[in-house]
Amino acid sequence: MSTLVIVGAQWGDEGKGKIVDLLTSRADVVVRFQGGNNAGHTLKVAGEQIIVHLIPSGILYPNITNVIANGLVVDPSVLISEKASLRERGHFLKDSQLIVSDRAQVIMPYHKIIDQGREDLLGNAKIGTTGRGIGPAYEDKASRMGIRMGDLLRPSSLRDRIYNAMDEKNFLIERRFKRPKLNPEEVVQEYLGYAEQLAPHITDTTIVLQNFVRGGSHVLFEGAQGTLLDIDHGTYPFVTSSNVVAGNACAGSGVGPNVIEKCWGVVKAYTTRVGEGAFPTELADGLGEELREKGGEYGATTGRPRRCGWLDTVVLNHSVRLNGLTGIALTKMDVLTGISPLSVAIGYELDGKPLDHIPSDITEFGRVKPRYREVKGWEEPLSDCRSFDDLPKSARDYVEMIEHVSGVPVTLISVGPAREQSILRRTPF
Ligand code: GDP
Ligand code: IMO
Ligand code: MG
Repeated sequence: MSTLVIVGAQWGDEGKGKIVDLLTSRADVVVRFQGGNNAGHTLKVAGEQIIVHLIPSGILYPNITNVIANGLVVDPSVLISEKASLRERGHFLKDSQLIVSDRAQVIMPYHKIIDQGREDLLGNAKIGTTGRGIGPAYEDKASRMGIRMGDLLRPSSLRDRIYNAMDEKNFLIERRFKRPKLNPEEVVQEYLGYAEQLAPHITDTTIVLQNFVRGGSHVLFEGAQGTLLDIDHGTYPFVTSSNVVAGNACAGSGVGPNVIEKCWGVVKAYTTRVGEGAFPTELADGLGEELREKGGEYGATTGRPRRCGWLDTVVLNHSVRLNGLTGIALTKMDVLTGISPLSVAIGYELDGKPLDHIPSDITEFGRVKPRYREVKGWEEPLSDCRSFDDLPKSARDYVEMIEHVSGVPVTLISVGPAREQSILRRTPF
């Protein structure tokens, strides 16, 4: 057995999809363990760009098993259309490439209405969710009102569960959010239609996974979102509704903690964030715009412009600690070419006092001032570098500074969106 968890170490969109796709060449199984189609993971292979939201990023390899595990919230209509669009492009030709947990929660139409309705009512205080129904679906999981993928295969209990849930949902939809009520029978029929299409994939994925683990397979766990969006350890309440940290690879997929061997955090060479919430190193000026344009920083899910800023090593070290990172996959180094000097936050100040960690109180976090170190940039393009020694000295220094500050080796460096634009420095398995 050999296992590796890949997590986002910032606020998401660090390049997890690219890294997982690259490392899948050495894996047997790729497992998503939390989140849903709020994720947008971009893969670039042979000039073709593919964005997956729900299906794991190992899907471009025909002989790999991809798992949508119990920890996810699954929108069946998105899963069906993602499968169809991959197929249209010549991928995912065998149903056996994907299994979906019978215990994964189902995103229902009312979850999306409630998600969007709440954001509208919050006005300026909104979270800036993706509007995909993620939060309300996890709420129903916790309140034990959720529909699970396995229920789709049992029409009479599906009908009962939908009718039970919808009394309360329609009350909210009509009275609180002032939208037209949903007809429960129409919802039942819609979801029975999805069931027919998804049935070949739905199974007890924990048993399949256990067999892989026992057989000595290489298992890659693919995190979504980023550590600062974790429901417990992120910048609450401006977070997503699941545990993003590596520890949740266990509960979210049904393997014991003894199965997890390594965890690499994907770290963008600078910082981005979509949605609302404090962001101490944000560059609200022309430099932020330059990073956005050079880095193509527009949401892969919602198309929203991403807020951009300097690398923040307080954020990085928060992720090192909470995930137990054993490696860092550093992405988008090529984007920093031509920006000199570069600034890196090496600590914060709060009310004139030094602070070296992220406070739990969001209003305090909103008031911290970064303490910056200036480092030399580089002018050379990096996109053709294929070894550490190919990088210019200042870029090598930047990598070593990250290793020094975090105490974690940079195991992989990415210098472009394509698979081959990568410098693998340690073996993942
Ligand atoms: P994810 O959600 O963590 O998978 O990241 P996204 O796919 O949302 O956003 C990352 C973006 O950066 C995508 O457009 C990738 O194609 C792109 N990307 C990934 N790694 C690199 C890199 O090293 N350099 C450049 N220029 N782009 C990259
Ligand atoms: P990937 O996997 C970046 C953000 C949303 C919002 C907050 C809550 O591509 O890195 P939600 O819809 O989850 O309730 O929204 O979380 N968010 C992400 N930001 N990348 C993501 O995924 C995200 N998934 C959710 O913008 O601020
Ligand atoms: Mg993304």
